[in-house]
Amino acid sequence: MSRLGKLRVAVIGAGAAGLCAARHLLSRPETFAAPVVYELTKHVGGTWVYEEKVGCYDNGLPIQSSMYRDLRTNIPKEVMSFPDFPFEERLPSFVHHTEVRKYLDNYCNHFGVRDHIKFETMVDHVKPVKMKGGWNGMAWDVTTSDGIDHSKATTDRFDAVLVCNGHFFDPYIPAISGLGKFTGTLMHSHDYRSAEPFTGKSVVVLGAGLSGLDIAMELSNINAQVILSHGQRPLACPLPRGVQQAPPVTKVLDDGTLEFRDGTKANPDVFLFCTGYNFTFPFLDKQVGLKVRDHLVFPLYKFLMPPAYPSLFIVGVCRAICPFPHFHIQSQFILSVLDGTFALPSREEMEKDIERDTASRRAQGVATRHILKIDSEQWAYNDELARLGGFQPLPRYWHSLYESNKVFRARDMLNYKNYNYTVLSETDWKVQDGQGQMLQNPLP
Ligand SMILES: Cc1cc2nc3c(=O)[nH]c(=O)nc-3n(C[C@H](O)[C@H](O)[C@H](O)COP(=O)(O)OP(=O)(O)OC[C@H]3O[C@@H](n4cnc5c(N)ncnc54)[C@H](O)[C@@H]3O)c2cc1C
Ligand SMILES: NC(=O)c1ccc[n+]([C@@H]2O[C@H](COP(=O)([O-])OP(=O)(O)OC[C@H]3O[C@@H](n4cnc5c(N)ncnc54)[C@H](OP(=O)(O)O)[C@@H]3O)[C@@H](O)[C@H]2O)c1
Ligand SMILES: *[C@@H]1O[C@H](CO)[C@@H](O)[C@H](O)[C@H]1NC(C)=O
Ligand SMILES: *[C@@H]1O[C@H](CO)[C@@H](O)[C@H](O)[C@H]1NC(C)=O
Repeated sequence: MSRLGKLRVAVIGAGAAGLCAARHLLSRPETFAAPVVYELTKHVGGTWVYEEKVGCYDNGLPIQSSMYRDLRTNIPKEVMSFPDFPFEERLPSFVHHTEVRKYLDNYCNHFGVRDHIKFETMVDHVKPVKMKGGWNGMAWDVTTSDGIDHSKATTDRFDAVLVCNGHFFDPYIPAISGLGKFTGTLMHSHDYRSAEPFTGKSVVVLGAGLSGLDIAMELSNINAQVILSHGQRPLACPLPRGVQQAPPVTKVLDDGTLEFRDGTKANPDVFLFCTGYNFTFPFLDKQVGLKVRDHLVFPLYKFLMPPAYPSLFIVGVCRAICPFPHFHIQSQFILSVLDGTFALPSREEMEKDIERDTASRRAQGVATRHILKIDSEQWAYNDELARLGGFQPLPRYWHSLYESNKVFRARDMLNYKNYNYTVLSETDWKVQDGQGQMLQNPLP
């Protein structure tokens, strides 16, 4: 791992993940040159930069953000934040999305990241090259353009690349037979902005992830008739007024009628897909061999780097996680890999580790599309990375507060965002409901 001078690192994207990566790289000037952060838009914040329009920006590039007008966070600010940068005290636990954007702007300024961002710059190609004396014997050529005129491209060389391009912008639309025969309005939650246009309409919402649930609630408030169609066990908690459940839509009949798995039918005005997103890394050279299949990105050691190219890091591919703290932990682990604090195993050992991990998930009955949903395992993952990288783990209340919020959400999706949490110590916290009643911690 011999090398000359400081390590040069490129960061793709200035959303929460890219800002966090840059913040940590900047904290270690003795080892790392100031990073170069490439950002397609004029803004930092990614997902949290609300755009009323759908489709494309004035410059013709597709709108990335899937944010909608009235969205509030679904994770209390006490554990949604980066651990080294709390949200403002005056704010309630569940904030409007505009507050998250301000928060990320403040984080960016506080840690001096802004000067290192190249705005309105699109990464078109990331290619590994052999280089004597480079980190692990190699380097990366990163080609960028203004995103519109790709002929004005420039290429720069780096020791490592951190991919932080987000993964909630390319709509996933399941293959449903006869879909083209549907005559009503077909849309995906990526293009949903507010409920008013649906007033008085009948809507089939497909998918009961957090988008499906939250949007069904918004539609209920304006008296739309909603069928929430999904493949999970029927939800047991109180549902919003006017919302019924149904099994998944399995086909569209010749006359445009939707048929559910149990044979029942519906003819809604709108068929709204809340079916999630595809991962996409269009700029990665094929040679890297990173594959995406059925919502799984592989092979990635510790869900981060391809064993054959351990100076490439795909940040934040795990799902059902607490994103900002996850980025905080992954970023520091990446630094520990690059500076050698964590001695990287051999390629073969990393490949075996991935196989073992995947096999054990499959043995528990986890479907391929859910392998990256690490959910409650995120806490062990975070702690392991902190131990391997030799840095501070998350404070201990993080885990129990976050998991308790999940319980409250499952019990009472209509009201859990009105609760306020207070952290009392490294281990303790308390919570009040919307009426100011103290609630019992739901977990042992
Ligand atoms: C509707 C919705 C609600 C959510 N609610 C919550 C919540 O309540 N709490 C929570 O913690 N998380 C929430 N999330 C998750 C959210 O995605 C994360 O909080 C976080 O914003 C992810 O950050 P990111 O940096 O990975 O991606 P993004 O925020 O998507 O940022 C990626 C950045 O990369 C840039 N980029 C992409 N491709 C290129 C390229 N080729 N070249 C240059 N730049 C590029 C994009 O312009 C963008 O700025 C929500 C997500 C969605 C979609
Ligand atoms: N702050 C908020 O309140 C808020 C609101 C919305 C979204 N978010 C965040 O935004 C991110 C994306 O959430 P998301 O809900 O858009 O995506 P998601 O979490 O990927 O959920 C998509 C859902 O669609 C289901 N689905 C896919 N194909 C289906 C089919 N053919 N039939 C029935 N169901 C199908 C999936 O079920 P399977 O898993 O079984 O495939 C899954 O439950 C998450 O991080 C979420 O936390 C936050
Ligand atoms: C993305 O989603 C579409 C369906 O919307 C699917 O057909 C396609 O194969 C997906 N792409 C990848 C790379 O998974
Ligand atoms: C929650 O906290 C906010 C900010 O401190 C406050 O304005 C709000 O009234 C609180 N809500 C409840 C139910 O206590």
